[in-house]
Amino acid sequence: MALLQHLKDRFRRERVTLQLGDIQALILRSRPEPYVGIHAMLHVDEAEGGRDLIARLAKHIPSADDWTGDLHAWTGVAISHAGLQALGLPDSALASFPLPFREGMAARAEQLRDFGENAPETWEDAYQGKRLHIALTIYAEDKAALDEAVDKAMGELRASRGVTLVGTHEFGADEDAKNPFGFRDGISQPVVQGAGVEPPPGGGRALAPGEFILGENSESGQPVAMPEPPELGRNGSFVVLRKYDSRPGAFNDFVRQHADGEQEQEKLAAQLVGRWRSGAPLNLSPERDDEALGADPQRNNDFDFKGDERGLVCPHAAHMRRLNPRGTSLTILTDENLHRIIRRPSTFGPKWTPELTASDDGREPRGIYFIFISARAYDTIEFLQQEWINRGNFLDLGKERDPVVGLHEEPGTFTIPEQPVRRRIDGVSTFNRLRGGEYLFMPSLTALRWIGEAGWKD
Ligand code: HEM
Repeated sequence: MALLQHLKDRFRRERVTLQLGDIQALILRSRPEPYVGIHAMLHVDEAEGGRDLIARLAKHIPSADDWTGDLHAWTGVAISHAGLQALGLPDSALASFPLPFREGMAARAEQLRDFGENAPETWEDAYQGKRLHIALTIYAEDKAALDEAVDKAMGELRASRGVTLVGTHEFGADEDAKNPFGFRDGISQPVVQGAGVEPPPGGGRALAPGEFILGENSESGQPVAMPEPPELGRNGSFVVLRKYDSRPGAFNDFVRQHADGEQEQEKLAAQLVGRWRSGAPLNLSPERDDEALGADPQRNNDFDFKGDERGLVCPHAAHMRRLNPRGTSLTILTDENLHRIIRRPSTFGPKWTPELTASDDGREPRGIYFIFISARAYDTIEFLQQEWINRGNFLDLGKERDPVVGLHEEPGTFTIPEQPVRRRIDGVSTFNRLRGGEYLFMPSLTALRWIGEAGWKD
């Protein structure tokens, strides 16, 4: 069963404590499977025209309230700090945003470890010079629903002035929701207390809503810092957008080079990720893939790493184990629940095949718009990039980096705990190359109207 349907089935209105009617649907609503969609990047040339567009778009943004209704497409709007400035927000509001967000992603390259082939100077034009002001994203169940939503949004854009379309990018995946490496993704998501959906088996406890929704109490018992005034900050969230070009051919070559025969190669690929291609976790199916398990939201998260302390089933260095250690004892202690993220990755390009080799990489665009949402997304990504992705100390792995999304300026290693001795394989390269990104603020529906009407002028 598709994840979205599964969440809908688990939704109970009597459990809702959040102001769902004011929160953008995209924050709490999972991608449909299959999904199609589009990202549009806009630049605001003139404040009044830009605000007029925000006011018009606000009418087409569904709220998170509509779980059970007939919603076939949902549009979300997020704005960068440069965008808020271009829209003419008052200085007091602009200054109330946290420093990393104010500086923008490119200026945070040091903290994000975006060096070498991932450095901002190499990024695509749309992400240069703080050009990206407004990001409009539409997710839809099918092409017809997408076209209808795109027509509405583009109609508003045509009717407005003072806003330039910097670029658009279509994305999508079949019902198996597979990314450019042929792995199902978007499986594991945190559950937000008060959103009305109870955690699936193994999904962990529901997390305090303030981890994701501004103005609500976070895991510390207090709300995290919120932009001012409350009309602007409350019920909003922050978004990290990072566009990656994927190199599935180089990944295939790496796997072929270090394992013999299809079964062993598939196992190594699963060890790099932590799940088999179907989404079945190694810890629930250690020897072979299990399509039914991978597709079953009731079972595909029902595990942790407590029985696998030594990493004999799922290596500590696997992408998924690094980014959600699920009870692994860490050398550098941290509360895992403070680094959970709502992921909305969107895949683009042709489907993965096992025949791809490194010489195919770059021939056609293939990759992922890695998008995640959290009330402190800018801090979380800087922590994840520094500690869990581009270092290995927290797991006693020295300098070993994430094999899927780490930056490998020199060929890296991947350690597989085995008995009697662990195996260390060389030649991990940057399988996902960063092509751009930005920190964005996803306002509530109230805030979109407030911006649209220049509410601060009242
Ligand atoms: C851009 C290339 C990336 C690829 C190909 C990729 C692939 C995957 C796959 C296949 C999974 C397992 C399925 C799932 O749980 O959804 C996964 C899980 C995950 N990934 Fe990535 N990922 C990428 C980037 C990132 C980045 C940049 C981050 C964080 C900054 C990240 C964080 C996570 C997290 C938190 C999980 C879920 C772990 C869990 O809760 O068990 N991924 N990823």
